[in-house]
Amino acid sequence: MTSVGSAYDEAAERYRDHWGPVIAPTALRLLDRIAPLVDRLTDAQLADVGTGTGILAVTALQRWPTLHATGIDPSSGMRALAHHHADAAGVADRLSLLAGDAQSIPLPDAAVDVAVSSFVLQLVPDRAAALREIRRILRPGGWLAVVTWLDETREFDPLHRFDDLADEWDLPEGEGGYDTEPFASVVSAEQELRDAGFTDVEAEAQTLEHAFTPAGYLALLENWERDDVFDPLDEAERAEVREETMRRWSDLREEAFIWRAAVVSVIAKKAAR
Ligand SMILES: C[S@@+](CC[C@H](N)C(=O)[O-])C[C@H]1O[C@@H](n2cnc3c(N)ncnc32)[C@H](O)[C@@H]1O
Repeated sequence: MTSVGSAYDEAAERYRDHWGPVIAPTALRLLDRIAPLVDRLTDAQLADVGTGTGILAVTALQRWPTLHATGIDPSSGMRALAHHHADAAGVADRLSLLAGDAQSIPLPDAAVDVAVSSFVLQLVPDRAAALREIRRILRPGGWLAVVTWLDETREFDPLHRFDDLADEWDLPEGEGGYDTEPFASVVSAEQELRDAGFTDVEAEAQTLEHAFTPAGYLALLENWERDDVFDPLDEAERAEVREETMRRWSDLREEAFIWRAAVVSVIAKKAAR
């Protein structure tokens, strides 16, 4: 099994170009949830756990001009993209990037006013330890806002048809990536945060929705979701698979390419003592 950090290293640019944009609007809604707290602070400190390309940290730095942020991520490839992103946005002087894991965050106790994390907690092997660790780095009275997947299975016809093609043509499949553990339900997400010592926990279910074009979804399959199928193929074979996939999708209407998934967004407080 590949380590999650090295998997993201290898795929960092593909993530930025293909998958990151699909989940970014839902990730960014977290910033509205922390706004009532951050709006009234000057020189606030924010930690973005599993910062990836820095989408939350960089957008927060643009939104709050006196904010300072620390992005923590085990993948050097992702941290390099976050640095690039911050530089292009003109906020790199207020962003520190640290190599680290959610289960052992390289920050002292009570270092930050607010912690955010989007689409990371499902990847962490010991989520309870990560939640306790996030609580440790928050100052008393500080807030955590997280969003990640809820456990559910939804059929998506374009993917289904692609997988049928891969089976029929006996296309190679990789070893599989890494285990993920979405939250079982909104109620259990709340309970996991309470068990880690948080108070004022409020979780809500949301639906992540993304309208793909057929070409856009094919690019996502090729570069992210089914890269293990495409990567071993040579260019002529890839072209053949692309053409047959498009043929099999040709009777699908626009609506069939709207991808929906359930997520849970939670805010919680570290009691002020
Ligand atoms: C799906 S991406 C999300 C990135 C970013 N938060 C976003 O919303 O675009 C998952 C990120 O979590 C990082 N990651 C994986 N395992 C982690 C862990 N145990 N602790 C912290 N970050 C982790 C990966 O390197 C990757 O950058």
